[in-house]
Amino acid sequence: PFAHVQQLPRDPVLGITEAFVADSSPRKVNLGVGVYLDENGHVPLLDCVQQAEEELLRRKGPHSYVPIDGIAAFDNAVASLIFSGERPSLDERLVTVQALGGTGALKLGADFLRTTNPSARIWISDPSWENHRALFSAAGFEVETYPYYRADGGLDFAGLIQTLSSLPSGDILLLHACCHNPTGLDLEPYQWAEIQALAAERGVIPFLDAAYLGFADGLDADRVAIDTFAQAGLPFLVSFSFSKSLSLYGERVGALAVVTGGAAERGPVLSQIKRIARTTYSSPPSHGGATVATILNEPGLTALWHDELALMRDRIKAMREGLAERLRVQVPDRDFSFITRQRGMFSYSGLSKEAVEMLRSRFSIYALDSGRICVAALNKANLDIVAEAIATVLRE
Ligand code: LMR
Repeated sequence: PFAHVQQLPRDPVLGITEAFVADSSPRKVNLGVGVYLDENGHVPLLDCVQQAEEELLRRKGPHSYVPIDGIAAFDNAVASLIFSGERPSLDERLVTVQALGGTGALKLGADFLRTTNPSARIWISDPSWENHRALFSAAGFEVETYPYYRADGGLDFAGLIQTLSSLPSGDILLLHACCHNPTGLDLEPYQWAEIQALAAERGVIPFLDAAYLGFADGLDADRVAIDTFAQAGLPFLVSFSFSKSLSLYGERVGALAVVTGGAAERGPVLSQIKRIARTTYSSPPSHGGATVATILNEPGLTALWHDELALMRDRIKAMREGLAERLRVQVPDRDFSFITRQRGMFSYSGLSKEAVEMLRSRFSIYALDSGRICVAALNKANLDIVAEAIATVLRE
């Protein structure tokens, strides 16, 4: 019955990890997927997570069902984390639900918007995270792009504004709250204000993907986009992930927050989102949500998390410096200053698809076809190897 089924290409991000796993070279390095690795090349188990898990184990709780919209203590704490000081002004019209990671949050939001705004199109940045297009297409949307990255490595803000100025009311504008994936180029506060004002004027619905909050300048500083939209008091959505910031990748723990148009909309919106969750996975898994709720509801563990997040952020910055410095020495005729200007886990390296293929076949170094490399997977042991390999392919 499946003879007609077409073979699809591998996933542009996770497919790279599949190829990496199958590679037997002892020198292989995976700079594909956005996963933070510590100085020893391991996915860290954060101390705050371990302590929270030990506490959960001591409590010996049963593995009962979680409510459809998630653990209440999780939803409540995450709403405060996302909106911070702006939360009180939004509370009566805010819906926050636990989701299956950032991807699950985006999918809940996509399915919700598709039922409520069936004729809307969604606009994503050019380029964007590969799964944005795939996910919103799968939800039934026509996916369009707005200019974002210029050929000279700068940000095409004028292009973005020009596109936004022409959008009809009800269309959806997907934005990266910080640490733009894949380019690492973020908007300035005045640019967020301009986007917010224009989106409001056009009646466009902003959807902020905040998967990397805390990886640019810290949780508070990275909230600038969210704060800008929250202060305007108009409807928007936020997808949030704990995969990176708490190193809880496999637990699939994130959240979708919807700032609705008013208190009367809150109940109906929540009911729609609950129906989507119920008919997709019934209710979210409990372990990740309970772990996060424990960390966010105990000030000592929250403070420990902030410290551990700062260590990850600082180590990534040190790796950026290290890579830029080595490439500067090895390929003196090229400018690599963009590596230290870009923010978050990635560097949009400008490597061509051919160069990426050469890195893979000759050096077992894996990057995305787009040239995106995960700086968070570099360490003192592989930095020289990676820099030398990149310098080699750039010279050819
Ligand atoms: C990435 O962009 O590498 C991460 O968001 C992981 C993923 O799911 O693609």
